[in-house]
Amino acid sequence: METIVVRESELDDYYEEAGRILREGGLVAFPTETVYGLGGNALDPEASAKIYAAKGRPSDNPLIVHVADFADVAPLVREITPVADKLMKKFWPGPLTIIMNKSDIVPTATTGGLQSVAVRMPVHPVAMKLIRCAGVPIAAPSANTSGRPSPTKAEHVIEDLFGRVDMIMDGGSVGIGVESTIVDVTGEVPMILRPGYITKEMLTEAIGDVTIDKAVAKINEGQLITSKEPPKAPGMKYRHYAPKAPLNLICGDEEEVEAELRKLAAQGKSDGLRVGIICSDGADLDGCADRVYHIGRRGDTETIAHNIYDCLRQCDADKLDVIYSDDFGLENDEALGYAVQNRIMKAAGGHVLNLKQKGDL
Ligand code: TXA
Ligand code: MG
Repeated sequence: METIVVRESELDDYYEEAGRILREGGLVAFPTETVYGLGGNALDPEASAKIYAAKGRPSDNPLIVHVADFADVAPLVREITPVADKLMKKFWPGPLTIIMNKSDIVPTATTGGLQSVAVRMPVHPVAMKLIRCAGVPIAAPSANTSGRPSPTKAEHVIEDLFGRVDMIMDGGSVGIGVESTIVDVTGEVPMILRPGYITKEMLTEAIGDVTIDKAVAKINEGQLITSKEPPKAPGMKYRHYAPKAPLNLICGDEEEVEAELRKLAAQGKSDGLRVGIICSDGADLDGCADRVYHIGRRGDTETIAHNIYDCLRQCDADKLDVIYSDDFGLENDEALGYAVQNRIMKAAGGHVLNLKQKGDL
């Protein structure tokens, strides 16, 4: 398939064509404030099937439906409950996805067979303009091939999806860098299924009691999730966000972690491995490994969030055998840190060395 790549300076000339492609069942990748999305008409089962095929995504993993106007939500859901209404008014447009019971017009091909639907109104100007030009709600998972880190730049999308989609709209580097918070409001107590920029505290302030899916809490504690208690968002159960080389996460105080990273890198190199280190800006580790990536200061979670996926992709491009990463003290940051820790823990897939407990990798 021929893919049109539209650069930032030309975007205005292409919205109409992009909207037409979407209405006619084609696929357009576009930037949002969180990560790039791979869009198709959410009401067209064939377009959804094309999305799954382009990503190589298991079809039991539902898609998020994106809208640009409040009036476009009601037709997608059985009812907008008072809680959902409060959340929409407070956090939309913005990085919050709300799970509600779906109406009949949303095909199960889009919801992975579920009777609920995830809805989100992104705040990115390109996304909003594109959705309005399409005139239909847009189903859009992150625009990566399944299992790879989510794309935060058009180059990442081109790397994964060139030749598999009709158009890629380049909106530059995205702002946040990790995917939206997902909150399910279909149960008695709203539940966070995926942490993101909108934190538990912010949600609680708006609507009262909110819980976090147990499986998600386990991931953040560095535990492996089991098939007995799978996460409630089907997508959270897959090995995900992960670079190709095994990633080992080292948790502890800044100095301890730095010393351990130096030791592990030396060990890896003497074993003949190509070693990468992911560490904070302040870490004095240059030259200790084949590649050393500095992705932000400890405590500067917004910068770390912005850089993490790009760094994990860089690890793939650099063809490493093993990666050791600082945990950046993220467990101490209850806000965006919780979301970033969730992604790094998932990328590590249980390979966690906690220097405070001295476990094994
Ligand atoms: O920030 C974002 O949300 C990005 C941008 C493009 O908007 N999108 C995104 O989509 O991250 P995706 O498909 O990569 O992740 C969607 C997650 C998956 O884990 C999926 O299982 C979950 O949302 N999900 C979608 N619909 C659901 C539903 N009805 N019930 C439970 N989980 C659902
Ligand atoms: Mg994704």
